[in-house]
Amino acid sequence: MRQPREPVDLLVGPAAQVATPVGTGCPPAGPEQGRLQVIPEGAVAVRDGRIVAVGPYADLARRFDPAEVLDASGCTVLPGFVDPHTHLCFAGWRAEEFERRLAGASYQEILAAGGGILDTVRKTRTASEVELAVALRRRLLEVLRMGTTTVEVKSGYGLTTADELKMLRAIRRAADPADDLDGTWPLGGGAGEPAHGPRLRTNRPGATGSGGPGRGSDVHAGDGAAGAGFTGGGTAGRGAAAGTAGAAATWTAAGPGHARPTTGTPRARAAAGSAAPVAAPAAGPVAAGPAAARVPGTGCAGGLVLPEVVATFLGAHAVPPEYRGRPDEYVDRIVEEMLPAVAREGLAEYADVFCEQGVFDLEQTRRIVEAARRLGFRIRLHVDELTPLGGAGLAAEVGAVSADHLLHVRDEDIPRLREAGTIATLLPGTAFFLREPYAPARKLIEAGVPVALATDYNPGSHPAGSMPLVMAIACVGMGMTPAEALVASTLGGAWAVERARRLGSLEPGKQADLVVIEASSYQHLAYRLGTVPVVAVVKAGRVVGV
Ligand code: NIG
Ligand code: FE
Repeated sequence: MRQPREPVDLLVGPAAQVATPVGTGCPPAGPEQGRLQVIPEGAVAVRDGRIVAVGPYADLARRFDPAEVLDASGCTVLPGFVDPHTHLCFAGWRAEEFERRLAGASYQEILAAGGGILDTVRKTRTASEVELAVALRRRLLEVLRMGTTTVEVKSGYGLTTADELKMLRAIRRAADPADDLDGTWPLGGGAGEPAHGPRLRTNRPGATGSGGPGRGSDVHAGDGAAGAGFTGGGTAGRGAAAGTAGAAATWTAAGPGHARPTTGTPRARAAAGSAAPVAAPAAGPVAAGPAAARVPGTGCAGGLVLPEVVATFLGAHAVPPEYRGRPDEYVDRIVEEMLPAVAREGLAEYADVFCEQGVFDLEQTRRIVEAARRLGFRIRLHVDELTPLGGAGLAAEVGAVSADHLLHVRDEDIPRLREAGTIATLLPGTAFFLREPYAPARKLIEAGVPVALATDYNPGSHPAGSMPLVMAIACVGMGMTPAEALVASTLGGAWAVERARRLGSLEPGKQADLVVIEASSYQHLAYRLGTVPVVAVVKAGRVVGV
């Protein structure tokens, strides 16, 4: 007699491929940096937000009785991306600065003249905590749509104690799905951004032509994250309760040409009934089952789903105008007032410094790091981004969790990073955007330094949050392989934010953070220059975006 199948909340599969790094207990480095487990016709079983099993779909379908099925036929299933370096909390963009740089001005010249980071500081200081939180939450949803399920976010555009605290409180509130941001969510605009997504209004009833924006049309170009497109979805374990009376529900993550309405367990087929998905529209996948449970304007049925946020205090991002020419006095302020205030409220896990010529030198960086460590902060540092100052050596010396950028890392500091167990977090999108040379990724990997990738999402040096784009630039610009880039964007990133025991790979016991891409293999992430569609995301077992 056949064994009864074990109940699970969600079965993701069949997928053309499941691809994931496999943990070894230490950060993937050297040959491990490019090691992936690839399962053709694979699947992932999920219960209580955690992964129960990963393997061939045929095996898992025999073993498990899922309440919901996310059919990923023709697609690839990957761990959610972990982006360990962003400046996502900010007010206002800097498009004019982009034009100035293209015309020949350097990033440092612009900063030295009071622009760049200091331009964002001016705008961020005038924004309220809630305005910053709304803008940040919209960006969190933007990156979730691109497959990022965990993201580090820094302060650093306040540069007074009050404004740094304001930023960090905004980060905490934006990341809390239960916080309606003083009643403004999901309708509010965010710091310097429009309140609504695109809207087309016609003043001539009966007219259906497009005609484009002009008199009579009212088009807003907000990021629309609060209301458009990538919403809906189900909650693993809730599908059956949402009107399908004990039967399994089927979600189809298959893209155009891949939709397979009859795929799934017999029970799933029965559940789909007349609501069975037909060929998916070009926009992407189709959900069948508990569609009635969708909550518009949130990330998911039953509530808002957001990426997990890791907060970092970066009061040492620039010397503010009030302290121009007196950087040591500003360092005093950070050490004596800001760090203790941030620690008192428990607002950040990490402290960071922009260690760079003309910003904070090695000695100033060391003072800030030592004070931060005494207060219990873990350390991550911006080092050797624009000049070879030796910041990587300092990062290794102080036992930083992560040394970031490293475009100009000195050869002698590379073995120091390895010995210290410091992760090299590389941000090749920033090098590309600033037209700087790339970090020596191959040298670092060959020396056995674990490499993570990050976007650096910020309004100046990389105004984009796509991890697949960063993977593409890492391969083309730094010579990483697609497998190395994927490991660096998942398990590598998880190590860089010290969450690798729980996040970063698809392994039994880990949190069920998954991305489904509309492509038949993981190589497409880098190969398709970051444009491969993300058709579904699963965050802690909750399905978003189908
Ligand atoms: O990592 N280097 C310093 N900070 C950011 C840029 C921030 C900005 O330009 O607003 C970076 O590149
Ligand atoms: Fe940065």
